[in-house]
Amino acid sequence: MQLYDDERFFDAYARMPRSQDGLAAAGEWHQLEPLFPPMTGQRVLDLGCGYGWHCRYAADHGAASVLGIDASARMIAAAQERNAAPAITYRVADLDGFDFPQAAFDVVLSNLVLHYIEDLTAVYRKVYHTLRPGGCFLFNIEHPVFTAGVHQEWIRDDSGAPLYWPVDQYYRPGPRTTVFLGETVTKQHHTLTQILGGLLQTGFQLKAVEEAMPPKSMLSLPGMADELRRPMMLLVKAVR
Ligand SMILES: C[S@@+](CC[C@H](N)C(=O)[O-])C[C@H]1O[C@@H](n2cnc3c(N)ncnc32)[C@H](O)[C@@H]1O
Repeated sequence: MQLYDDERFFDAYARMPRSQDGLAAAGEWHQLEPLFPPMTGQRVLDLGCGYGWHCRYAADHGAASVLGIDASARMIAAAQERNAAPAITYRVADLDGFDFPQAAFDVVLSNLVLHYIEDLTAVYRKVYHTLRPGGCFLFNIEHPVFTAGVHQEWIRDDSGAPLYWPVDQYYRPGPRTTVFLGETVTKQHHTLTQILGGLLQTGFQLKAVEEAMPPKSMLSLPGMADELRRPMMLLVKAVR
């Protein structure tokens, strides 16, 4: 079963601040938003759209059409409920089975999804194929420093305070089992060379690379200050 269709996981995800308050509650948004190309008249595809926050943003900023796909039927139902707009179509589809039509989109977005994908190169090729020449691929993936460690968790002292973040088996890409929102979740570790070099090998030009840091205004939230101790997300903008 798709993880995000699991009732307990879906309910726990729904309680996260970013699920309740959208982009404004996402620690990376202040860095991701400026990387968006102008949306006016654009045909946009969002891979793993979840609740559809980025689809809604694209539509609100003038996109001609937005297609949000997600493997989870529950997520797509939530997107239709919370972030519907005339320009947006939501569809239940797995990246693996989705038919990426040739040169059909100007912009492809993907926020916090690609670390669930084992074969990143295959997705890069499909995105390249589905973008028009000059089209933009903007994504946010969990950072290799975050994904490399075996359990994706701080090493803590006796009181439970974080001592350091373990980076191990860095050059061994592949599955990492972690506990996220109380459920055992398998993510995929990719090295920086795979993430950035893979784009270049596919033919993309790199336009921007940023490591997400929470804004000062969020540092008082529980656990947020620790997000300055190691990177969790890598934001990448590339052009076909
Ligand atoms: C952390 S959520 C991010 C959702 C949304 N992009 C956002 O930023 O709010 C990850 C999403 O990726 C979706 N997902 C994971 N693997 C997928 C796959 N192979 N194909 C399509 N969607 C997938 C999940 O169902 C989930 O909605």
